[in-house]
Amino acid sequence: MTTLAALEKAKAVDPQQFRVAMSYVPTPVAIVTAMTEEGPVGMTVGSFTSVSLSPTLVTFFVDVSSTTWPKLKTSPTFAINILGHDKGDLCRAFSRRGADRFNGVDWSLNENGNPTLADASVSLECIPYSTLILGDHVQVVGEVRGFQVLDEGMPLVFFKGSFLDLANHG
Ligand SMILES: Cc1cc2nc3c(=O)[nH]c(=O)nc-3n(C[C@H](O)[C@H](O)[C@H](O)COP(=O)(O)O)c2cc1C
Repeated sequence: MTTLAALEKAKAVDPQQFRVAMSYVPTPVAIVTAMTEEGPVGMTVGSFTSVSLSPTLVTFFVDVSSTTWPKLKTSPTFAINILGHDKGDLCRAFSRRGADRFNGVDWSLNENGNPTLADASVSLECIPYSTLILGDHVQVVGEVRGFQVLDEGMPLVFFKGSFLDLANHG
């Protein structure tokens, strides 16, 4: 039997075990924000990465059960706020359900009408480029039309279910 045939016949990987294996992959932490008729909305994503230089594309993946994404996608533009190493509180605040996530957060509407977080280290201004349903997530690709580097410090990194302390590195 070829390796391909053997793998195709193998039992599906258990999602919880897969989740544990993937927890060993360090991820950046970003908050995707947009202004909607209901006010500002935002959610934490660890699945952010850049995709292409020409055009300038970035991507992140949203769980299909997200209650924030249906609101976010009503906006013609969105911002991606990359968090620095000491912004774990913001990461938690924007992943909490049923809370006013912007309460107590220093944010403002920028000239493109997107809510940007004063404590982000990099903020990207995007227009939607494409979406693709992949299993239980939606891949969202955005075209970056502007950005600001606000803090050149170490990034917030999520690893094995908690934050890596990079403050004393580099
Ligand atoms: C470090 C971290 C990374 C996360 N990454 C993602 C992600 O990439 N995609 C996603 O859909 N949810 C991700 N979440 C979960 C969402 O932030 C959160 O569960 C969700 O916004 C809450 O539900 P809602 O979308 O219905 O508001 C992450 C949460 C944390 C703490």
